[in-house]
Amino acid sequence: MHSVDPTTESMIRSVLAYAENRLRLDPVPLDQGSRDPAELDAALAGLPGAEAHTPDQVLGVWASVMAPAVISADSPRFLGFIPAAPTKASLLFDMLISCASIQGISWLEAAGAIHAENKVLRLIADRAGMPETAGGCFVSGGSAGNLSALVVAREVAKRKAGPGVSGSGRRWRVAVSEDAHSSITNTLRICEMDPLVVRSEDHRLTGVGLRAALADGGDPGSVAAVVATSGTTNAGIIDDLAGVAEVAREHQLWFHVDGAYGGAGLFAPSVRARYDGIEHADSFIVDPHKWLFAPFDSAALLYRNPSVARSVHKQDASYLDVIHDRPGEWNPTDYAYHLTRRARGLPLWFSLSVYGVDAYTEAIETAIGLARQAADEIRSRSSLELVREPSLGVVLFRRAGWDAGQYTAWADRLLQDQVAFLPPSAWEGETVARFAFLHPHTSMDLVREILDRMD
Ligand SMILES: Cc1ncc(COP(=O)(O)O)c(C=O)c1O
Repeated sequence: MHSVDPTTESMIRSVLAYAENRLRLDPVPLDQGSRDPAELDAALAGLPGAEAHTPDQVLGVWASVMAPAVISADSPRFLGFIPAAPTKASLLFDMLISCASIQGISWLEAAGAIHAENKVLRLIADRAGMPETAGGCFVSGGSAGNLSALVVAREVAKRKAGPGVSGSGRRWRVAVSEDAHSSITNTLRICEMDPLVVRSEDHRLTGVGLRAALADGGDPGSVAAVVATSGTTNAGIIDDLAGVAEVAREHQLWFHVDGAYGGAGLFAPSVRARYDGIEHADSFIVDPHKWLFAPFDSAALLYRNPSVARSVHKQDASYLDVIHDRPGEWNPTDYAYHLTRRARGLPLWFSLSVYGVDAYTEAIETAIGLARQAADEIRSRSSLELVREPSLGVVLFRRAGWDAGQYTAWADRLLQDQVAFLPPSAWEGETVARFAFLHPHTSMDLVREILDRMD
């Protein structure tokens, strides 16, 4: 299994040929995600089993049955949830990382990988206007980033309150809007914290709303943090980051910005001003596997003051002293709840370096522009209505007279016919249609075809 024998040689040829073909598909097929488990089970009979199989036999099953049962994240027809659109360079470099199983745990083991990852973190921190001291690491996704950041926020609040208060079993709270991502709710549950739900203005968390919630919500001293979103998942709305930052400062709250989806807009001049205030964040996340065109899975997690995060997340053990007894060395493992980690920031580093940051700006602006054009198209059709002006790349709209079942049937048919993947969403309790544009090759022709199918 570990030597270069005839089986290895045959696998190198077959797997690389498969990867090459896949990388050259233009466009890639959308494929169908959901399948009857019995069908999948039948295809996988005996795989794995006690006996060996030839690589081509196993690869054949993967290519013919399993792979088509996964919707292609790199398809410009993927317009649901928050899409992904990894660049060719990022996909290729991800293969290289896998090939060498490159890790990014400690400087002692992986200085080269970590230094390159940190260059990307610095680039993002600069775009956000965070100070020179800012730093962090890449984690597996937005959920992991939000959890790691809010664990630090809670610990900081406990330390400020002192042992008397934190030892008394106080329940900490975090100010959130109703439109915060579900991973924030999950984080609060995991960390045994409660939400202080802030009434938003048109689904936007504001400084005014936060101030009112703190005044009306009782026991403001129990609020450890506030979470603002720079690009809500369902509608792409950017909260009033400057206003929220100001109130957070007044009340000494940890200010976390969840930019898992929309943080990439920092690279788009047409919307950059909407992010003003982000420079005050104590912690900030953005997912390269979303709008920074990297493969799954990757989230950049940045702290204004990384040493505080380190004091919370650093794992101590006799066998780890060797990585910590080296002053000045940067160990990504110290800045989130993980220990072992894949160097998952590297595909973005490679891709940014190959194409240049300007190409990213252009690609992000393309999705924003497409959302505006799609909105105009929707406005021009009498049976359709925009739910709201698009923010970033998301467009919510309704078809007059349709019920939930009709939206679902329309979306199912689009997928069945391999036109597009865009499951319906809901807005204020009503089922609506939703475009999430991200891939720079998604065309207005495709948008029109999708809308025509609502006639
Ligand atoms: C605003 C926001 N935060 C957090 C997340 C969670 O990110 P992940 O799915 O990478 O864990 C998402 C995912 O869509 C998101 O849109």
